[in-house]
Amino acid sequence: MNKHAFTNINRRRFLVVAGVAGLGLGLMTRSAGAADVSGAKIGIIGSGHIGGTLGELWLKAGHEVMFSSLDLAYDQSLAARLGAGAHAGTPKQAAAYGEVLLISVPYAALPQLGRDLADEIRGKVVLDTCNPIPQRDGDMANEAKAAGAGISSARLLPGARLVRAFNSVGYRMLQSEAHRAGERVAIPLASDDGEALASAVKLVQEAGFEPVVVGPLARAREFDPGMPVFGKALTAAQLRDALSLKP
Ligand SMILES: NC(=O)c1ccc[n+]([C@@H]2O[C@H](COP(=O)([O-])OP(=O)(O)OC[C@H]3O[C@@H](n4cnc5c(N)ncnc54)[C@H](OP(=O)(O)O)[C@@H]3O)[C@@H](O)[C@H]2O)c1
Repeated sequence: MNKHAFTNINRRRFLVVAGVAGLGLGLMTRSAGAADVSGAKIGIIGSGHIGGTLGELWLKAGHEVMFSSLDLAYDQSLAARLGAGAHAGTPKQAAAYGEVLLISVPYAALPQLGRDLADEIRGKVVLDTCNPIPQRDGDMANEAKAAGAGISSARLLPGARLVRAFNSVGYRMLQSEAHRAGERVAIPLASDDGEALASAVKLVQEAGFEPVVVGPLARAREFDPGMPVFGKALTAAQLRDALSLKP
């Protein structure tokens, strides 16, 4: 993928995505970079339940994927099991490898990752699944919850073109419902970057789900843990209705 090529087709797609979501363009950060993620290499930081599941779905969609975690041996065996197109590396290698990144780690790991991977993530589309859970992540999770996870993650991962994605549904549902017949399960998305959102829309579709753009990062709190839509496998119409989004 050429990161800096933003074709007319992609520009139209962005406008449609933003328009459908009822977003004012003033909310969006206009930054250089492509929304076309066809065949993009994906770097996954955190190859656990969510990262491992999505990586496998994107491999099936034709992407090359590098998995990373704190356990390189595990990632090497995961990549070997998944076969062609799957690679393993350290978090730094995966962050450098990916044209698009998925970060899916315990929330308490984000401050350190934001510092360690600052050079690699700068300017890249980063899908963030991480939920602040005080019982697991300690006090920093309370601060993140108070700010809203979207706002908090953007502070912890400066320079990333951040999209909140895949944080509100369980991994078992991702495994069982991907590409299901009939109306697909909706995945709410939020970002301040319109082109990054368009990339995320495509990646959600390729994983076998229905993207629903909720709005800027400030609105990501509407699908944070504890909110009514969190943890539910809703259709796009049900999700839009629950969040009072335009159909
Ligand atoms: N489980 C769900 O259904 C679900 C749904 C939506 C959102 N989420 C959120 O998504 C995130 C991931 O959830 P999960 O269930 O996939 O967790 P998980 O199965 O525990 O996987 C976490 C992954 O992060 C890696 N990791 C931990 N610390 C790291 C660090 N400092 N640097 C690099 N990698 C690190 C772990 O590596 P090691 O195994 O080597 O420690 C593991 O691969 C969490 O924030 C969670 O709250 C989870």
